[in-house]
Amino acid sequence: MADQDALSSPRMANDYDRKAEEEYDWRGPEVAFGLSYAFVNPGESVLDIGIGTGLSSILFHKAGLHVYGMDVSPEMLEACRGKGFATDLKEHDLTVAPYPYHTASLDHAVCLGVLNFFGDLRPVFSEVARILRDDGVFAFVVGDRAPGEAAEFLVGPEHTESDSTVTMYRHGTEEVTGLLNDNDFALVRCLEFPVPMDRERTSVLRAKAYVARRKRRS
Ligand SMILES: C[S@@+](CC[C@H](N)C(=O)[O-])C[C@H]1O[C@@H](n2cnc3c(N)ncnc32)[C@H](O)[C@@H]1O
Repeated sequence: MADQDALSSPRMANDYDRKAEEEYDWRGPEVAFGLSYAFVNPGESVLDIGIGTGLSSILFHKAGLHVYGMDVSPEMLEACRGKGFATDLKEHDLTVAPYPYHTASLDHAVCLGVLNFFGDLRPVFSEVARILRDDGVFAFVVGDRAPGEAAEFLVGPEHTESDSTVTMYRHGTEEVTGLLNDNDFALVRCLEFPVPMDRERTSVLRAKAYVARRKRRS
């Protein structure tokens, strides 16, 4: 279980956008949107899981999609609400199923900068598969795990905005492929990119962005 205070303190919510863009060079939103662009259309909906301040779905909004957001942190949701682009924002813990959305009720989903805080991704994939309409896409980013590499790694206070050490998790291609197969997704795009973990760029996480299509229900 992730340390929620470390991930979403009021301090983090207030300064998140500036730090993500200027100090940490967080390019996940552009990578995920660029890989998804061919599969989304104006007027469709996208669910952003762990929406934070909204960086992960603002480009989808600019492309004409309706943004639905879910996050466990009231402070992050409040910061996102203040931007005024989300159609609906809900406070909910992504480890707890069911999520507060009807089956086959939304077109697409994104989850960026979030899955690295969790070891077990099965609730996320099964809930997204339930909520998405046929042929919708799920764009997500994970820290990649090379064969033989440990899944867990510790990130110290010097690399985060928290006062404590945070446990993070890598997820390898084999695990992700299994999650997609088990939950009726077909992989359509995958791209590796670096995620700096500190201002000085001394530590870099090898991340992978995936886009998968929800298979048609029979
Ligand atoms: C690093 S931020 C990423 C925010 C945004 N997706 C982005 O790309 O900028 C991680 C977000 O995940 C949220 N989060 C952490 N644990 C969560 C949980 N159990 N359920 C829902 N959201 C969670 C945090 O509150 C925070 O907003």
